[in-house]
Amino acid sequence: MIDPVRTLLVGVGARGRVWARLLREERLTEVVGYVDLEEENLAHVRDRYGAPSAACFFDLGAALRALRPDLVVLATPPMGRHRQAVLSFEHGAHLLSEKPLALDFGEAIRIVQAAEEAGRALAVAVNFRYQHCVTRARAILRSREIGAPSFARYVYWRNRDGRRPGLNRFPLTMRQPMLYEQTVHHVDEIRFVYDAEVERVWCRCHNPPWSMYRDDATVAAVLELTGGILVSYIGTWSAQTRMTEFVWRTDCEGGALLQRQMFSDLFIARGRDADAAEPVPLPWQEPLVDDARQLLTDVVEQILAGSLHPHPSGVDHLRTLGVIAACEESDRTGRSVAMDELYARHNVPARWLAWTEEGRPAP
Ligand SMILES: NC(=O)c1ccc[n+]([C@@H]2O[C@H](COP(=O)([O-])OP(=O)(O)OC[C@H]3O[C@@H](n4cnc5c(N)ncnc54)[C@H](O)[C@@H]3O)[C@@H](O)[C@H]2O)c1
Repeated sequence: MIDPVRTLLVGVGARGRVWARLLREERLTEVVGYVDLEEENLAHVRDRYGAPSAACFFDLGAALRALRPDLVVLATPPMGRHRQAVLSFEHGAHLLSEKPLALDFGEAIRIVQAAEEAGRALAVAVNFRYQHCVTRARAILRSREIGAPSFARYVYWRNRDGRRPGLNRFPLTMRQPMLYEQTVHHVDEIRFVYDAEVERVWCRCHNPPWSMYRDDATVAAVLELTGGILVSYIGTWSAQTRMTEFVWRTDCEGGALLQRQMFSDLFIARGRDADAAEPVPLPWQEPLVDDARQLLTDVVEQILAGSLHPHPSGVDHLRTLGVIAACEESDRTGRSVAMDELYARHNVPARWLAWTEEGRPAP
């Protein structure tokens, strides 16, 4: 019988409440405490889960000193994560951080460095990798059933009401909300499903006059990936009307793969002459919950097995966040950005760039 991993949850807002539920349901974790700046959020976990007052803190340092957790789950806004991460490592905890790891690429590198120096595990909650439509798409492309991917169109067209009760508020005023909060998931999916790395980025960001977001809520990018893959990406939170559209179509040597809803509806067209695509049967998942549940189990199992780079690792996340930073730079300069040049400018160690994660989660 394995002792559960003693876990501290930091941030009990919109996303933290999902983590509170998952951490309690996960047999490999035991929640030993909660941290939040707001009494109302700590009252939520006391009322809902019977958390004792002695397990609820306003300050991360105080919680770490009192509880000495094995694992910290960070579900705070992405501003100021470096301090929270370093404090967690200094107190001997492993870290599972919400995405994005930071809003600054240099800061993300320093967090990965700090984990390495402290000999602690660092994982990032890119839960989209654990959606059935994503793992299945990856498995189909890896099997070469319809040949190698060649080019793709990724369209995410959504009117996201950033003032809706129960949603976080910080994206309304942050820098580049679409890029750092949403496109980061999409770029991570693209890398993961194609098993390829982005080599060059061109990007323009935009904000329509009716946008409720202070900074750009639309991202248009062209990504060139290893294997000669070209991706045309457009994502927005400021669609006019309430008509949501999602399509991710990948054309391959011997057919095409299509995802027609944000979290489901995977279709495959086999053969060059196919004039219709057939559905790929997938089990049901509660979006953004069951995928995170699988990620949590996977990460904790790896930590228990002694891994310091549990998948999806902080090191791997640098290759997703690097693309997001490149998109922002391309928008600012009007030029395309070569990823190897961006990594060289940031002195990203070669061993991190050579890092490959085993192909988990299993299809
Ligand atoms: N992976 C996903 O599917 C997914 C979905 C939603 C949000 N997120 C991510 O989760 C993170 C949190 O987002 P959210 O929607 O919960 O935001 P939120 O604003 O609703 O909640 C953040 C909480 O953190 C608390 N907090 C802020 N600073 C703190 C500090 N220094 N110490 C302790 N608590 C602090 C706030 O009081 C708040 O309760 C973000 O990084 C976001 O991108 C991920």
